[in-house]
Amino acid sequence: MQKTVSPARHVSGSIRLPGDKSISHRYGMLASLAEGESTLENYSTGQDCHSTLGCFSAMGIPVHKDGTTIRVSGQGLDGLRAPTQDLDAGNSGSTIRMISGILAAQPFTSRIGGDESLSKRPMGRIMKPLAKMGARVTARDAQYPPLEITGGPLQPIDFTLPVASAQVKSCVLFGGLYASGVTTVREGIRTRDHSEIALRQFGAEISIKPGVVALTGRPTLAAQKLTIPGDLSSAAFFLVAALLADDADLVLQGVGLNPTRAALLDFLVSLGAPIKVLDLNHNGGEPIGDLRVTKGRMQGGLLEGAMTAALIDEIPVLAVLGAARGGLEVRDASELRVKETDRIATLAENFARMGVEIEVRPDGFRVEGGQRFRPATLDSFHDHRIAMAFAIAALAADGDCQIDRAEAASVSFPEFYQFLGEITR
Ligand code: S3P
Repeated sequence: MQKTVSPARHVSGSIRLPGDKSISHRYGMLASLAEGESTLENYSTGQDCHSTLGCFSAMGIPVHKDGTTIRVSGQGLDGLRAPTQDLDAGNSGSTIRMISGILAAQPFTSRIGGDESLSKRPMGRIMKPLAKMGARVTARDAQYPPLEITGGPLQPIDFTLPVASAQVKSCVLFGGLYASGVTTVREGIRTRDHSEIALRQFGAEISIKPGVVALTGRPTLAAQKLTIPGDLSSAAFFLVAALLADDADLVLQGVGLNPTRAALLDFLVSLGAPIKVLDLNHNGGEPIGDLRVTKGRMQGGLLEGAMTAALIDEIPVLAVLGAARGGLEVRDASELRVKETDRIATLAENFARMGVEIEVRPDGFRVEGGQRFRPATLDSFHDHRIAMAFAIAALAADGDCQIDRAEAASVSFPEFYQFLGEITR
C-alpha cells in the first residue's frame, strides 16, 4: 500500500492508544501458562502480539478475542500440546525470542520461524543460554530462524546478558519457570522490566534488584484480569508530531509509564518538550498516566550508553525530531542494525530522499538540526517503525510525501494512520 501524507502544522485532540506491545506479549504468554481463564483488556492490536497468541493456540491453548479484550484459558505450566505444524512468529522478534524459553522446556520438539525480516535476525543470543540450561536448539546457519527446539528438563543458570536485551532476559526467565531451582539473570545496562513485573503479578516468586533478577522455578501461575496500558512507543510518534507542529495541544490517555520505558519522556523534557503527566494510576504493577504535550522550543541532544538502550525503539522518530529541530547524535546503537531492518541504513536512505543530511557511523549517526524536509517518495522497507517515523517526517515536509509499503505500521499499530488523520490538520 502506498500512503500519501500531506504536511500538517497543527496537532490537537485527545486519543487513547492501543495496548503496549511488550506487555501484551508477556501477558499472552503467561496467561497461557497460568491455571484458569485470564482476561486481558486493551490487548495490542498489532500483528506481532497476535502472532504470539497464534503460537499458543497452535499448542492447544483456547484464546477468545472480543475486540481488544482477549480471554486466554491457561492450562498450567505443563498444559501445552505439541504443535502439528511449524509455529509462525511472523515479523515478531519478541515472540520468537521469548517463546523459545518456554518451548525449550516442553516434552516435544517444535519448529518456529517467521517472515523474511525475522529470518535475518540473530538468535545466537538466546541459543547460548538455552543450551546452558540443557535445551537443544538448532538454527539456519547456527544463528537465524527457523529454530528447531528439542525441549526437555532445564537446569537453572546464572546468566549475564551479553547484549542489553529484554527479549533475551525474558527468554531465560521464561525457561527458568520450568527449571528446578533459582534462575538468575544479570544485566549491566537496565532493560525494560515488564517480564519481571508480569511474572510477579501472575504469582511467580521473583526477586528484582538493580541489575539482578532471580526467579524460583516451578511456580503455579494464577489467571489474572488485567488492563494493558497504552503503548508509549506508539505515543512517541504523536509526541514528536506535536513537537514539530506550529501549534499543538494533544492528550494521550492511559499510556504506560513504566520507568524503564519512560526514559523517552525524560529525554524529550530535557530537550525542552512541554510534556505533563496528568493522572497516574497502576494496573498489574505497571504505572499508567495521561500525557499532555504542547508546542515546545526544542534543543539538540545526545543519546549514548544506557539511554540509547532505553530508547532503542524510539530512535527513528527522535532522529526526525532532531533533524527538524535541534539536532541529534546517537552512539552505542549497533543494535539498531539488527532490528526489523538495519534502522541506521533505512533511516539514512529515507533522509537522503528528503534531502536531509545524516552522518552515519557503524553504531550510530549524527543529524544537524534545522534541516528542510523535501517532499519525496519514502519507503517503510517493511519496517513498522520506519513507516511511522517517516509519516511524521512527512507532516513537516514542504509538500506531499508518499510512503511505499506503508501497511508495515500494522505490525505494532494498525490504527496509526487513522489516529494521525484525527489529530493533524
Ligand atoms: C522488546 C525489547 C527490545 C525492543 C523490542 C521489544 C521487548 O528488543 O526493541 O521492540 O518487548 O522485550 P531487544 O530485547 O532485542 O533489545
